[in-house]
Amino acid sequence: MARRRCTGWEALLRAALWQAILVLPWTSYAGTSKAASPLPKAVAPAVVSRAEDARLFRIYYGQGFKVVKNSWDGNSYLLMQNTSRMAIKTKYCTGRIKSFVVPLANYSVDTSASPVSFFELLGVLQNLQGITSDHVSSPCVLQSYANGHVQLVNRTDAQKLSQFSAHFVSNTDKDKGCNFAAYVPAEEDTPLQRAEWIKYLGTFTNSEERANAIYDAIKTNYLCLSKAAADLGTRFKPIVAWIEYTQGMWSFVKESYKLQYVTDAGAEIVDATITDKRFNISDPEDMDNLHAILCTVDVVIDQTYASDPAEYKLSTFLENINVDRNSCFSFVANHSIWRYDKRIGDSKTLDWFDGAISQPQLVLADLVEVFFPTGNYTTVYFRNLAKV
Ligand SMILES: *[C@@H]1O[C@H](CO)[C@@H](O)[C@H](O)[C@H]1NC(C)=O
Ligand SMILES: *[C@@H]1O[C@H](CO)[C@@H](O)[C@H](O)[C@H]1NC(C)=O
Ligand SMILES: *[C@@H]1O[C@H](CO)[C@@H](O)[C@H](O)[C@H]1NC(C)=O
Ligand SMILES: *[C@@H]1O[C@H](CO)[C@@H](O)[C@H](O)[C@H]1NC(C)=O
Ligand SMILES: *[C@@H]1O[C@H](CO)[C@@H](O)[C@H](O)[C@H]1NC(C)=O
Ligand SMILES: *[C@@H]1O[C@H](CO)[C@@H](O)[C@H](O)[C@H]1NC(C)=O
Repeated sequence: MARRRCTGWEALLRAALWQAILVLPWTSYAGTSKAASPLPKAVAPAVVSRAEDARLFRIYYGQGFKVVKNSWDGNSYLLMQNTSRMAIKTKYCTGRIKSFVVPLANYSVDTSASPVSFFELLGVLQNLQGITSDHVSSPCVLQSYANGHVQLVNRTDAQKLSQFSAHFVSNTDKDKGCNFAAYVPAEEDTPLQRAEWIKYLGTFTNSEERANAIYDAIKTNYLCLSKAAADLGTRFKPIVAWIEYTQGMWSFVKESYKLQYVTDAGAEIVDATITDKRFNISDPEDMDNLHAILCTVDVVIDQTYASDPAEYKLSTFLENINVDRNSCFSFVANHSIWRYDKRIGDSKTLDWFDGAISQPQLVLADLVEVFFPTGNYTTVYFRNLAKV
């Protein structure tokens, strides 16, 4: 039952690629997906993974073992095949090197801060046995939790967490155990670099073949979409303000992967030299400046946090920005004010922080539709506040 639901994610991946195939030449996915095996193999994989785009990890292969170097936490992970003699005798747990026996018999994930969608795409959710939070967007993981296959463990309970063959965390400050393994896709600079972490995780389950096939498909599709967007952008490049309101101040986001998304989708982010400050809503001069900048943009992406995304409406945005509906802003007239909170799980968890990391081609496809609307594509992550 759980397995059947899990295929939904695969279907989503395919669906997105299928939509792209309608308008773009695209060939590789259908071939590679059939070749990928659905389950990790016990034998040492004949196929190896290499980081092509990611900055923060490298994978090295030996006889019966592999070493994954994570330059973010400075750790090397020695992964020993369970069929090797080394696996019986060796155990490392120092500040620099930790050992694991692979394929992992079971594992847990710090779901309070780490995406699980990579494991889902790898097809290894049946070995997930512990989570630290049920605020997860994946219906598949929630189903597993509901039927008792996955248990909820307090994230500070290192003792309890030590019973899993590996505990995956994204917050490296919280590394409290020999079985803790850090993966940090969110620390990378570009959408593709983030997605390539599927290869890193695939090494722990001997899922190299599948990880490579998925990453190749995603990358091919992403680059295809990006090329098409570049063509669209030669005629007209929309100017985008990606903004956020916190504690009485508006600011323009700076994370490089978001700026990369905008560029890759054929648009242009509003000039950083005039947006490199925060705008206090109680300060009329600040607000005049902000309004002046916003007057020059075509599209607004508002990522302001809302505990209940459904309650964040156009009126909320206009109120926060202190303008009325009849203002002359072209993004209001053109109905182009977006948020990335369309896809949410039960418990109001945004899949932006999970599935969107592992499938950047879906985000890019959304943004191409946002910047060059056809009305033919249903966005996955982006919700138009101005059109209800
Ligand atoms: C190695 O792992 C595979 C897959 O989990 C399992 O079927 C096999 O029994 C394991 N072999 C040993 C020697 O532990
Ligand atoms: C987890 O454990 C810590 C102390 O070990 C405790 O303060 C906290 O309330 C626990 N969290 C949950 C959700 O039970
Ligand atoms: C996970 O697998 C290891 C190694 O096979 C085993 O010793 C441990 O009991 C398992 N943990 C859980 C929670 O099933
Ligand atoms: C914003 O401006 C008001 C009025 O000038 C001031 O009281 C407040 O401290 C400012 N807020 C911040 C975060 O600077
Ligand atoms: C926004 O509307 C203006 C006219 O009001 C039009 O010229 C422009 O092309 C529109 N921009 C987009 C992105 O639709
Ligand atoms: C929408 O799709 C149809 C069928 O593929 C196509 O004929 C039409 O031109 C598309 N509309 C736009 C605005 O791209």
